[in-house]
Amino acid sequence: MDQTLKQTLLDAIRTIPDYPKPGIQFRDITTLLGNPKAFRRSVDELVHPYAGTNIDQIAGIEARGFILGGAIAHQLSAGFVPIRKKGKLPYDTVRVAYSLEYGVDEMEMHKDAVSSGEKVILVDDLIATGGTAEGAVKLLRQMGAEIVAACFVIDLPDLGGRKKLEDLGVTVRTLVEFE
Ligand code: PRP
Ligand code: ADE
Repeated sequence: MDQTLKQTLLDAIRTIPDYPKPGIQFRDITTLLGNPKAFRRSVDELVHPYAGTNIDQIAGIEARGFILGGAIAHQLSAGFVPIRKKGKLPYDTVRVAYSLEYGVDEMEMHKDAVSSGEKVILVDDLIATGGTAEGAVKLLRQMGAEIVAACFVIDLPDLGGRKKLEDLGVTVRTLVEFE
């Protein structure tokens, strides 16, 4: 990716020290979403390898993966599948426990949201330890999805999430990194 664009995206992301817990440098993407150029270019960069390919569904992880995932689904003329924190989805679900940089939780997906063999791109704003994305990969594969790629605006490489997904055989696409 063009270095000027990378810098534009880095400059558009706000860092909040000690949120939500002491010692965490929280990379806040709301400032990027509120910047029309940075938002559009992020979506364009994430989708461009898949333009013109046949992607059935975009699976977005609550909450910030919904915003990026919705825009990406529109751009690729794909459907959108929400992967949510437990207890939020109204119909029958599949559920998985996961851990992330600052805690543990459970996530769910509707059991009929993805059909076996469908081509799916997983989307979230950020990958840190990769625990959240790993949980989502498990749910999608349990339903027989083919995960074409997992896309994130931000990678925190020191936390090893990209490697965790790649070890599961998932292609990972990210735009910017923070130490
Ligand atoms: C953040 C982020 C990812 C996850 C990444 O979400 O949006 O989903 O953490 O961390 P990991 O790679 O260590 O698993 P968060 O859990 O803060 O939820 P939210 O989007 O609902 O605020
Ligand atoms: N999710 C996990 N770690 C995070 C961080 N440092 N900033 C924003 N979201 C996160």
